[in-house]
Amino acid sequence: MLDVEVRKLMQPFVLSDYQMQEVYTRFGSEIAKGLKRSTQAQANTKCWPTYVQDLPTGDEMGKYLALDLGGTNFRVLLVTLKGHHDASVDSQIYAVPKDLMVGPGVDLFDHIAECLAKFVAKHDMRNAYLPLGFTFSFPCEQVGLKEAMLTRWTKGFDCAGVEGEDVGRLLHEAIQRRDDVEIDVVGILNDTTGTLMSCAHRNPDCRVGVIVGTGCNACYVEHVDNVELMDPAYKRKQKQVIINIEWGAFGESGQLDFVRTEHDRKIDEKSINRSEQLFEKMTSGMYLGELVRLVLVQALEQNVIFKLSSKRQEYADILRNNVDIFETKHMSEIEDDTFPEFANTRRIVKQLFGLEKAAVEDCQKLKYICECVARRAGTLVAIGVSGLINRISDRRVVVGIDGSVYRYHPKFDAYIRETMHKLVKSDKEFDIMLSEDGSGRGAALVAAVASKTK
Ligand code: BGC
Repeated sequence: MLDVEVRKLMQPFVLSDYQMQEVYTRFGSEIAKGLKRSTQAQANTKCWPTYVQDLPTGDEMGKYLALDLGGTNFRVLLVTLKGHHDASVDSQIYAVPKDLMVGPGVDLFDHIAECLAKFVAKHDMRNAYLPLGFTFSFPCEQVGLKEAMLTRWTKGFDCAGVEGEDVGRLLHEAIQRRDDVEIDVVGILNDTTGTLMSCAHRNPDCRVGVIVGTGCNACYVEHVDNVELMDPAYKRKQKQVIINIEWGAFGESGQLDFVRTEHDRKIDEKSINRSEQLFEKMTSGMYLGELVRLVLVQALEQNVIFKLSSKRQEYADILRNNVDIFETKHMSEIEDDTFPEFANTRRIVKQLFGLEKAAVEDCQKLKYICECVARRAGTLVAIGVSGLINRISDRRVVVGIDGSVYRYHPKFDAYIRETMHKLVKSDKEFDIMLSEDGSGRGAALVAAVASKTK
């Protein structure tokens, strides 16, 4: 049995049904605001039209290049669409050095172009014509499939000279500067769009794409009549369009203040994008481990955990002085543990504090702390997803999800479903599917449907 102290400590992370409903309502009105021309400027959730209007049929064919920038890594991919809902992917991962993440934008795009050129040379494709889909997973205002203006950096990126600029043009110029590859960028997309497309490639009922990874966001299929910000010329031939919600920004007008904890506030204050991306800071991999670290410091200070250890103060200092020392992946490992062995938990505690064989009660408490932080994130994501399903007119809706938190956390899917069962209208049917390489396959599919439409 867990003692009352740790339950009390974690109480601020446990959302009541009332709080859940309230967030649900506020979230719905924010989306409505984002879609309307007269209110979009004030909306946190910008609901950008992506200009992706054709979902895949499954019979797309051909070879496509894809770039994927948006998290800790950068990838170049060669995707072969084979028809019959089938595709193969060959890819190469390149690190994005920390200094490039916050340096001049030109350097970042030169790095991307260099990796691309190496990849093309390695695959002996210099003379082939290959259309490219660019998965650029940051908020962008699009005016067409190929033009995307970065509105703000997120997830620890802050390169000068890119905000307000068309990232398609920046990529094109970087490629031109090299003069050793010729590439045709046919589409720029968000990773949520890639996820939706790659899931729709396999399951035609997919209408929502979600990422819970380093960042957090979603997109969905909306009727063009509800999308006031879209160029009317595009509304004639197709009646639907994918909307990139950018829900990570939700809460910036105070809508989440009634559920944010002192730890959420601290995370925000220490971040490089203060007062921004508040929903993202409660739900995504870049911040969840940090939240646990801050809670643990408090737990140690208040003598709630490791009560019997004479080194409690020392442990608190270690955690206090080492930002990011408790990683989001540790939460997955701890929540995967079984009573009473707690093999992962003990290994992590040893790694952090040098403590051999932590007591069972302490392992249980640590697991409970991780659970509360992850469950709250799952609940918040589910609130958003349920709101979208209830908005969409189809009776059956499949949700495609990807991202490291969803993929590797052993219970995240269960946390999401638990809340969805409470919030999705009873006349609806839903399912969740894991996306298979949305950023690669999805980018190729966007490129493929773009060429088809041409
Ligand atoms: C970005 C989104 C992206 C999400 C997931 C957020 O920080 O603003 O565009 O979809 O991260 O990668």
